[in-house]
Formats: sequence, structure tokens, C-alpha cells
Amino acid sequence: MDPLRCALESAREAGALLLERAHLPLEIDQKGLRGDLVTASDRASEALIVARLQAAFPAATILGEEGGVRAGTSDERWIVDPLDGTTNYAHGYPLYCVSVAYERAGQVVAAAIYAPVLDEMYAAESGGGTTCNAARVHVTDIVAVADALVCTGFMPALYDRNGENFARLSRLAQAVRRDGSAALDLAFVANGRFEAFWEYDLKPWDVAAGTLLIREAGGRVSAIDGGAFVLDGGSVLATNDAVHLEMLEALA
Ligand code: IPD
Ligand code: CA
Ligand code: CA
Repeated sequence: MDPLRCALESAREAGALLLERAHLPLEIDQKGLRGDLVTASDRASEALIVARLQAAFPAATILGEEGGVRAGTSDERWIVDPLDGTTNYAHGYPLYCVSVAYERAGQVVAAAIYAPVLDEMYAAESGGGTTCNAARVHVTDIVAVADALVCTGFMPALYDRNGENFARLSRLAQAVRRDGSAALDLAFVANGRFEAFWEYDLKPWDVAAGTLLIREAGGRVSAIDGGAFVLDGGSVLATNDAVHLEMLEALA
């Protein structure tokens, strides 16, 4: 099966499952740091996605947030966040998504992000551009942070790392949002809702799909210190490219 099709189908199915389960009483568990939640829906979504991926790509490695690594025998790897934005989900706040990325030989080459409440399906393939619900999307051409809507994220326990940046950008930018789903925040840069998104301490499953969306939509991705973006490096600054340097200066 074509990896992008597999990513899209599993993300859509998992998104539908999350929506169906959104009305059930939630079993919420705390994972590590305060604010790091997991629900039975996270686990059910991951089980559904992993079953689909394993059936279609039995040799691929799978890295899923709730299940850890399943070692494969090929150079393919799936990187899955079965519910990005669990806190939003737990409060009925509509911004959450499923993120599925497909990596070959260490490069993410296909990605799907599905936000079930919005019914927005984002897709990207290396060299093929980014789409939302099958229509091509592009980053904006806004050139100044003063005219930009920017977004960030942080866990309560890690606020100190980003608090000064948050305050500084709140003065510099047109406005700052903190929407609570890193994968969807990246999709929103790709489709032009935000000009920039930055966050520290992210995991590969938060950013694997979204960073491909950004690049294929004409945007730029780096670490927050301006170094190269690395999937397991934690730090990401993703922009429409035009405000990238000004954002780096503001976050320095
Ligand atoms: C979280 C969200 C949130 C970000 C956290 C992530 P989760 O993922 O993306 O926006 O601030 O750093 O851990 O736990 O909802 O999958
Ligand atoms: Ca996540
Ligand atoms: Ca998650």
C-alpha cells in the first residue's frame, strides 16, 4: 500500500474513533510531569493505528507515543501521535489531532495530520506539496513579526524555559496563541493561520508529520537556537520563512 494513503486512512479512522469516544466518561492518567496526560482514548487510537500499520507494513518499525518502539526489519519507520492535544480533548476544547508520519532511511517522506472536530485532513509528501482536505495550502507571505500571529506551547512544569519568550513575543507579535496541540499548531503554520510556532521539549511524534507539512508548504524549520532541526532534538521553530530570522532574534 502507498504509505501516504495508509497514513491518511489510519489518521482518519483514529480521528473518528476519538470523536465517538469524546462523549464517554474519561479515564485520565498522569504520565510523567504535571500536565502530561493520557486517556483510554489515546490508547485506543494508538491500538487502531498500530494494527493498521502493522498489517500494511509488517517490516516497518513503529514509534508510537503510548506504546514505545516495535522494532522492524526494514529502513521504514512510522512515528505516531495517536492524540495530540490530550488536555484539550479532556476538556472538550476542539483543537486536537492524530499525527502519522512515515520515514524512510531516516527521512520523513509522507505525513498525515487529521483534526476530527474541524474535519481537516492535512497531507504532505516529500516533493509533492501540502494539502488540507485535498486543496493545496501554502504558508503566508507576511514579512514582519509585528504583523504575525504566532503560537507556542509548554507544559506547566516546563514554563520557566519559555516564559520570557512568551512575554517578549506577546509584546512584539500581533498576537500570540497557545493552542495545546503541537502537531496542529504546525499544520496551522503550513496552511497560513499562523506565521510561526516554537516550542521546546517536544517529542518526535509531536513534530514528525507537522515539520514535513511546513517544508512542503514553503515554510522553514530549525531549532530555536537557529541550528538544524533534528527530530529527537526537542526544540522547534517553524515559520513561513519570511519571519524566520526575526523570530530567531526574538527568541535568542
Ligand atoms: C502535547 C501537546 C502540547 C505540547 C506538549 C505536548 P500530547 O502533546 O502537543 O501542545 O505543549 O509539549 O506533549 O501529550 O497532547 O500528545
Ligand atoms: Ca503530542
Ligand atoms: Ca499524544
